[in-house]
Amino acid sequence: MTKARWLAERRSDPWHRKAKAEGYPSRAAYKLIHIQQRYRVLGWGDLVVDLGSWPGGMLSVESQTVGPKGLVVAVDLREPVFRAGNVVFLQMDVNDEEAPFEILSALGNRRCDVLVSDASPRFTGVRDVDVFNQLLLGVRALEIADVVLKRGGNVVIKFLECEELARVERRLRRWFRFVKRVVTPPTLRKRSSEVFLVGLGKLADGMSEGLRDLIR
Ligand SMILES: C[S@@+](CC[C@H](N)C(=O)[O-])C[C@H]1O[C@@H](n2cnc3c(N)ncnc32)[C@H](O)[C@@H]1O
Repeated sequence: MTKARWLAERRSDPWHRKAKAEGYPSRAAYKLIHIQQRYRVLGWGDLVVDLGSWPGGMLSVESQTVGPKGLVVAVDLREPVFRAGNVVFLQMDVNDEEAPFEILSALGNRRCDVLVSDASPRFTGVRDVDVFNQLLLGVRALEIADVVLKRGGNVVIKFLECEELARVERRLRRWFRFVKRVVTPPTLRKRSSEVFLVGLGKLADGMSEGLRDLIR
């Protein structure tokens, strides 16, 4: 898609216009609001890790929901537009070997209650490549959750529909009390194959062991 066409599509998107009118940095805010209304993933005072935070639509929802007693550690290659007293930003690549440990340190060496990943690769337009790169980011989010998410904690992780996703989902069902695939209203509008895996109530550590072998 050309940049001009992308900008025209964005201008005509009601979710983009709603986000602008309501002061959210991006339409992604409504994806998390939809998930929060149904599954109560976030709570007042929670510690949250947000992977792929820029420009900060989801981040602003997390910051408002956890309140001043909570904390959100935001991770992205780019600094988010959204800022607040309860947000700490780490500018880094989630694939960095040290990422889980730097996140843990930013959390004050406490494990978080919720991990959200809306990280997306730079899309090439070649569907198989884009789907696989998105899958790799989702799997990386689960590897990070293994280190930084407490037992009983929740995850919300973005993927694109593909065959391998069923394998990841089956694995998740062994590690979370409840797992659901969620397609949000802003995604439906775009007719995209984006889907979020919501996992509630982490049961044990070690969920990401061998996960990469499942998607090869
Ligand atoms: C769809 S945007 C996120 C939107 C954001 N969650 C919001 O609510 O406004 C995807 C983000 O993922 C980030 N990203 C992609 N790959 C990454 C990586 N390897 N490490 C860190 N961030 C990454 C991009 O920089 C981009 O800002």
